[in-house]
Amino acid sequence: MKKYLVIGNPITHSLSPMIHNYWMKKYKLLESIYEKKKVEKRDLNNIIDKVRKGEIKGVNVTVPFKKEIIPFLDEIKGDAKLTESVNTLCQENKKVCGYNTDTEGFKNSLKEKGINYDNKNIFILGAGGVSSSVLKVFVETSKKIYITNRTKEKAKQLKKLGDISINLLGRKKNIIEIVDWGKKPKVCDIVVNTTSIGLVKNESLDLNFEDYENNKNVLFYDLIYNPKETNFLKDAKLRGNKIMNGEMMFLWQAQIAFQMWTGISPVIGDEVIKLLDK
Ligand code: ATR
Repeated sequence: MKKYLVIGNPITHSLSPMIHNYWMKKYKLLESIYEKKKVEKRDLNNIIDKVRKGEIKGVNVTVPFKKEIIPFLDEIKGDAKLTESVNTLCQENKKVCGYNTDTEGFKNSLKEKGINYDNKNIFILGAGGVSSSVLKVFVETSKKIYITNRTKEKAKQLKKLGDISINLLGRKKNIIEIVDWGKKPKVCDIVVNTTSIGLVKNESLDLNFEDYENNKNVLFYDLIYNPKETNFLKDAKLRGNKIMNGEMMFLWQAQIAFQMWTGISPVIGDEVIKLLDK
């Protein structure tokens, strides 16, 4: 049996097992199984050892371990380097390698909906494990990126990471700006919630977006896909803004991970999207 896992805490919200097991069946990988596991930080080393030994074939990493897992890995590759965020583990030549498929997943989700972020103003809420993946996409072509986080120090660390990418891209330096928690930029085209607030039903971010009322041009994007409509999105809808949840980003990041593990690029068809409705 080839075993795959998604690890996190909380983990009940994760629909990764449903999607990966669906694809495994569809592509006749009948000896494969994908499960979810709630873990503590102290469990990480043991899980990674199992990946190293080939007892676990692949792992997805979610909240709150995308950064915390890095010191336990043998190597980090691709987008995981500039984001310092890992959501996918594979074993390569007895080494456990950490990859980031969230960045590409997020980018694809914008591309397929025709959402243009070139020269736009972006507001990123949160500076946790997935925030750097979102930032990495926007630093390429966006005009200005505002970051806010309850703990300001983490927003500063995130800005530092973004500034490294900006430097490598040869763009001008003052693209990223930190905003105090509770404040917001005057002009903004896309607001992205990268915090974990909303994963638990009825949780709400204590932020006021009244200034953006009736502005259909502002997109509120919540990376959370379960529940489908967090209070962040419900409020935005009531205000008359555009909304989008994390469903498609979730499917794209899963597709890339599945391909890395199996060599098969699974189709994100209607039947897979419908699975998320259950
Ligand atoms: P970590 O913070 O360990 O990287 P995460 O789940 O990847 O874990 O990130 C959680 C994000 O949600 C962080 O931006 C966090 O803000 P802090 O850095 O201040 O902790 C944010 N978050 C979690 N609970 C929050 C709350 N009650 N209010 C505001 N932001 C919150």
